[in-house]
Amino acid sequence: MNTETEKKIDELLSKMTVREKIGQLTQYSTNPREEGRIREMLRKGELGGFLCGTGCFNGDEEAAERNREYVNSLQREAVEGSRLGIPVIFGKDVIHGHNTVYPLPLALSATFNPELVEECYDLTAKEAANDGIMWSFAPMIDVSRDPRWGRCVEGIGEDPYLGEQMAAAVVRGFQGPTVEGLREHGNIAACAKHYICYGAAEGGRDYHKAEVSDYTLRNTYLPPFRGAVKAGVRTVMSSFNEISGQPVTSSRYLLTELLKDELGFDGFVVSDDRAVGQLQRQGVAANGEDAASLALNAGLDMDMDSMVYLDNLEKAVERGRVKEETLNEAVRRVLRVKFELGLFENPWATYVPTDREHDSAVARRAAGESMVLLKNEGGILPLKKGCDFTLMGDFYTEKLEQIGVWSSDFELDRVKSMEDGIKEVSPNTRVWRTDSTHSTVNANPAKGNDIVVVALGEGNLLEGEASSIASLELTEDQALTIRNARKFGKKVIGVLFYGRPMALEPVEHLFDAIIYAWHCGSETGTALADILFGDVNPSGRLPMTLPRVTGQVPIYYNLPSTCRPVDEYYGKEALLENYRDEFGTPMYPFGYGLSYTTFEYSFLRAKKSSLTMDEINSGAKFEIAVKVKNTGKVGGKECAQCYVRDVLASMTRPVKELKGFSKVYIEPGEEKEIVFTLGKDELSFYHADRVFAPESGKFTVYVGRDCYASDSIEIEIL
Ligand code: NOJ
Repeated sequence: MNTETEKKIDELLSKMTVREKIGQLTQYSTNPREEGRIREMLRKGELGGFLCGTGCFNGDEEAAERNREYVNSLQREAVEGSRLGIPVIFGKDVIHGHNTVYPLPLALSATFNPELVEECYDLTAKEAANDGIMWSFAPMIDVSRDPRWGRCVEGIGEDPYLGEQMAAAVVRGFQGPTVEGLREHGNIAACAKHYICYGAAEGGRDYHKAEVSDYTLRNTYLPPFRGAVKAGVRTVMSSFNEISGQPVTSSRYLLTELLKDELGFDGFVVSDDRAVGQLQRQGVAANGEDAASLALNAGLDMDMDSMVYLDNLEKAVERGRVKEETLNEAVRRVLRVKFELGLFENPWATYVPTDREHDSAVARRAAGESMVLLKNEGGILPLKKGCDFTLMGDFYTEKLEQIGVWSSDFELDRVKSMEDGIKEVSPNTRVWRTDSTHSTVNANPAKGNDIVVVALGEGNLLEGEASSIASLELTEDQALTIRNARKFGKKVIGVLFYGRPMALEPVEHLFDAIIYAWHCGSETGTALADILFGDVNPSGRLPMTLPRVTGQVPIYYNLPSTCRPVDEYYGKEALLENYRDEFGTPMYPFGYGLSYTTFEYSFLRAKKSSLTMDEINSGAKFEIAVKVKNTGKVGGKECAQCYVRDVLASMTRPVKELKGFSKVYIEPGEEKEIVFTLGKDELSFYHADRVFAPESGKFTVYVGRDCYASDSIEIEIL
């Protein structure tokens, strides 16, 4: 904390009325229909921030300029028209790009490349700042093990460690590497959301209760938030859900004791949209005053959109239900972030040109690294440039759905469909379209080629908030398209544009090759064509297990062993732990993804195989080295993964947990050494008494291509 800033905050606090203080804790939408009221509130110091709505200027520079003027005119009311001139902060859901759209967050997780993800968010922040956005409601870092939950597409997948790395990458991308640099144009405040266990909503139903023990909360759902806090995230959004009877919005344990006191988060907590008021619907607050008092006393600093703080907190303070020092502490946190953003010196939205070509190139790279090659029998991929193919499915020309959820400022004209991408990368390719849901294939439309490409996907309406689905199998029409594709007697390549893991068992065997292409934003089509025609060697890996059928959900690799021992995924062979009518294994496991080349792992070793507890506590780390050789004919990126099993502990521990990954480019014939380091952070877990520490004893370390990695060695803490 910067003492100069804290002094300035003290000074301001000493001049503020209670109402003005509550104003700082109030966020409202920039709804043009309420413009008069909003301007008046700004002049009275009754608003601290805005939740901005849709922009979508689609490249119209004049409209974007008019928007900047509007944003600045609102800011002027606060800065020049109010008694103390405290600037407001404009926030928006800038989730995976702004004008340039990057892959959906779950797809970005599939890159297993935090540096690339950081670059995407750095560019996103620059575009957003040009529209006056100083604060993004991202990253969403809810661990989720249930693909039925529509919001899993906005998150980081099923793994706490991958989530922790991705959370930190997004925070650095938005905010820059240091809090001191936050004030530079193009850096904006990030918001780690939704704290916490929102992804554990029962049955994948949105907003539903989560039944999570403190042990699981800390070991599974907390790590991404810990990663965001360590990276200096300036804001955190509390989640809508309750956990075992306690709404997060009013949980002092979660918001103050765990997040602020224990993790050391010194930014501010904003509620989710109207969640403070909704404590009444959850049945724990009788009225607005109850709701406001419960939330503020719990440590929830800013009320998003419900106006419950502004309407009730004065009374609550008067009656002693909320102490003024509690109010001051919340205001201090909000003002701190405003100072750090440099808003007191320069609160204005200004335009700094961006390099669109460069941004598109990064988006193309990110999309290329997100896509996962699930299957490639007989090495039919990549295709030869110029080759013809038959096309089935309705996603070939699709642009809008490729944008994915939570994108409101994209430029549709800049979005490349699969068709655009193929025309650019392989201009001589002729595509023969055929009616996909034809029940009989009566003619052979596939002249002069022997490949059928099936391009299928799901629409945005099936993903995101309040958009859960009950069935993960492809629709009957889609399955029919695939079966019909098979009837040509040719090789069938599936290109699957889905934001979430789908249950592919009923159709998987009908494909010779499958590219899981997610919704990859502006450069979806070009990135896909790069992979189809071999300009890019696929390197994406699954951040979430792909189930065989919906009935296997939840399914995740890092479960604890049971009393009937489980090796992985509920016991590869074990029947008792599984369903009588289905395998225990998924369709494709966590971390999985093929390449156009082959990699050989050898010489796995620990440079030192034992360390004392004292050494570990004073920062010593195990160094796990492995050699990886590209044994194929083309260069490619390999994502080596390191998993750990704590063999004997005071609590049951997962059969395997990802604790390191490294993506490296290797030329054909070349061998590289990859070194993972395992220290206190990687070997610790939260015990029953909430202490985060390692236990002495043996750990099995597995290194390989995915969570099935079987090459292992032992290390020991003495
Ligand atoms: C509700 C969503 O849960 C949250 O993710 C979003 O940031 C807010 N609405 C604001 O749009």
